[in-house]
Amino acid sequence: MAHGLSAELCRRLRAAQHWLVLSGSGISAESGVPTFRDAQTGLWARYAAEDLATPEAFARDPQLVWDWYQWRRELVSRARPNPAHRALALLENLVPRLTLITQNVDGLHQRAGSSTVLEFHGNLQTNRCATCNQVAEPDLRDDVRPPRCPRCAGLLRPGVVWFGEAIPPAALEAAFAAANSADLFLSVGTSSLVYPAAGLAQVALRNGALVIEINPNQTPLTRQADFHLGGPAGEWLPAIARQVKDSVSSGDHLNAPHSRSN
Ligand code: OAD
Repeated sequence: MAHGLSAELCRRLRAAQHWLVLSGSGISAESGVPTFRDAQTGLWARYAAEDLATPEAFARDPQLVWDWYQWRRELVSRARPNPAHRALALLENLVPRLTLITQNVDGLHQRAGSSTVLEFHGNLQTNRCATCNQVAEPDLRDDVRPPRCPRCAGLLRPGVVWFGEAIPPAALEAAFAAANSADLFLSVGTSSLVYPAAGLAQVALRNGALVIEINPNQTPLTRQADFHLGGPAGEWLPAIARQVKDSVSSGDHLNAPHSRSN
């Protein structure tokens, strides 16, 4: 049975009132965006992502880090949302309440139609000044890399959260509030290694939420999860969305959508 959901899982999906979904880079793998811990290829093969996405790397060699992000921006702008992103956008309109948190900076959830996305690690397409922190549009005409801040002439950097930096406080607060109220926690395409995002599952577990993990590989969460759906998100999430849609249309869903707030 390809991607068949057990009767028990279907029953628990129908009963859930507040879904909290945490996505990681694995959800964009089927869009052709390499995951964070995948070995890099081509020009960047001799660098590890973990060694470039840090304030120290930018201080040491700002042009190298800027050029890597420009390469990633181009890659992401060519990528398209995949069935997993689209299934989550659909689920938002099918379940009573859904909060979507992503560790990804690629914007593919929004492009698939998800209306509210808590971006834990910022967004690749934005820039801010490394000195004055002002959000800025880079002037790329004169090929100065990184471009300079129009306000203070500091170096511009991508508007993402690097290793060792703080998560935007508003996203952090909203995420932990959601983890405290959710009765279903769905982890998709994340290695569950990077905190504080990985701590959300622990809060949900403590509160007795149903915990589901979609990942072709095992992670530290696998043994704690109620259900581990081993395989690609692009297959499991559409199967879940189909199941929920069918139960809503047959009137079998315990909770008709009554609120879309996050
Ligand atoms: P990782 O690269 O650590 O993990 C990606 C996960 O996706 C792995 O567990 C894979 O097994 C899984 N995976 C691969 N293909 C998949 C597919 N088709 N469907 C479902 N899962 C799949 O990425 P993250 O967990 O997102 O942080 O990493 C978290 C954070 O660490 C990133 O946001 C980034 C990184 O270092 C910062 O930059 C601060």
